[in-house]
Amino acid sequence: MESETTRQLPIGVFDSGVGGLTVVRALMERLPFESILYFGDTARVPYGVKSVETICGFAREITEFLLQKGVKLLIIACNTMAAVARHVVEDVSPVPVLDVIDAGARSAVSVTRARYVAVIGTPATINSNAYARAIHRYDPSVRIFSQACPLFVPLVEEGWLDHPVTRLTAQEYFKPVLCHPIDTLVLGCTHYPLLKPLLQEVAGPGVQLVDSAEAMAEQTADVLHASGLAAMEGGSPQYVYYVTDVPLRFQTIGERFLGRTLADVRVVKG
Ligand code: DGL
Repeated sequence: MESETTRQLPIGVFDSGVGGLTVVRALMERLPFESILYFGDTARVPYGVKSVETICGFAREITEFLLQKGVKLLIIACNTMAAVARHVVEDVSPVPVLDVIDAGARSAVSVTRARYVAVIGTPATINSNAYARAIHRYDPSVRIFSQACPLFVPLVEEGWLDHPVTRLTAQEYFKPVLCHPIDTLVLGCTHYPLLKPLLQEVAGPGVQLVDSAEAMAEQTADVLHASGLAAMEGGSPQYVYYVTDVPLRFQTIGERFLGRTLADVRVVKG
């Protein structure tokens, strides 16, 4: 069992922008006594279309920032950073590091019966092949079909969660994967859980969607309990949100992801 002081430290969660708030939301529901320090790089989002080198540099800076604030665990909530920069985070972190890709991969393997799994994400995530590698670590027999869906991030930020343009876009993106007998679709991007009802409709009832935010919260709960790092029950958790910019409509978009009021937002300048 870790010391009481360590157990009461917050969990550090980070993302390229506000999308990682879907992970914070899942964590708040699953682990209501845990404090959270969130970092969203709102000045430099999106990462999904940037080079690996650039993304790794950003990931290192964010990790150092959160470690310096004092956290007991780091969660890479951004699929893109998890896909290409996890090693960078692990290299500098003395605290355990979890990421959405590993959580989503485990969940996909436990859900699929057909062993035909589709993965959707940003171009950087899909090009890295990180999901395929992670899924094959748990079950090498799974067939994986990947599809980059770069238009989904701006569509979600626009709030077009149930819009004909988004539906048409999804139909187009899904054509090459739905011609295979897949029964599982991994939502490999922070923004996609907000499109769940629409994506379920387009993919059809025989396809189970894997939400990596929920999978992440489950895995975090397991790790905290197994390592004696879980916060004491009954306390009142603190939530602080660090961002690098407050762009137009930040509050509205952020609250859509978080599902509640976004209070205590602090702007950090680089
Ligand atoms: N957070 C990113 C992800 O999960 C999506 C937004 C971006 O491209 O930065 O891949």
